[in-house]
Amino acid sequence: MQTPSGHPVGSTSAARLVVLASGGGSNLAALLAAHDAPGYGARVVGLVTDKPTAGALDLARDAGIASAVVAPADFEDRAAWDRGVAEAVAVFRPDLVVLAGFMRILSPSFLDRFPGRVVNTHPALLPSFPGAHGVRDALAHGVRVTGCTVHVVDAGVDTGPILAQVAVPVLPDDDEASLHERIKVAERALLVETVGRIARDGLRVVDGRAVIG
Ligand code: GRF
Repeated sequence: MQTPSGHPVGSTSAARLVVLASGGGSNLAALLAAHDAPGYGARVVGLVTDKPTAGALDLARDAGIASAVVAPADFEDRAAWDRGVAEAVAVFRPDLVVLAGFMRILSPSFLDRFPGRVVNTHPALLPSFPGAHGVRDALAHGVRVTGCTVHVVDAGVDTGPILAQVAVPVLPDDDEASLHERIKVAERALLVETVGRIARDGLRVVDGRAVIG
């Protein structure tokens, strides 16, 4: 059995993870903390960000992980930027691409470069509250339970096959920041666990459903 990119599952070499992040990078930090564990099966080999000021860059540097900044302002148009991101990711030879707080939509041609190998973490229980403001929208709707979702990325916005989810309670005095921080605690654990399973057991999409192993 293999990971989507042919990485032999159970091999001694770890699956190569490339993380895309736009912000502080606490999800990246969680993957960096996990990837040294014996038997985890995956290693972060590169970070790609659209933001030169992303805190994730400092985390990567401190961890000795190579990074690339692909800022839209440096490209003539969106399509050129998208190609730039794909090239920057490809340089790291990923077995799995992990979007961890990457706040831009990637094109179908980007996904075609890494078929079945791009996963995303979203701070809501998809299909509810997709998009850039999932935490705010859930709070505004008045839900009592929200959570986080790890899913395979498809051409839609947060619409790909779901891999794993965790429910997180909404407390009466929550604001967006307090709720998001509570979600992120669960999200980091879910992402580390799900990425490790994919690396060790492989990932397939069968009849629109994501299957690990
Ligand atoms: C995460 O909650 C992610 O789901 C959302 O943005 C947050 C990024 O957090 N899209 P961090 O940069 O990993 O700390």
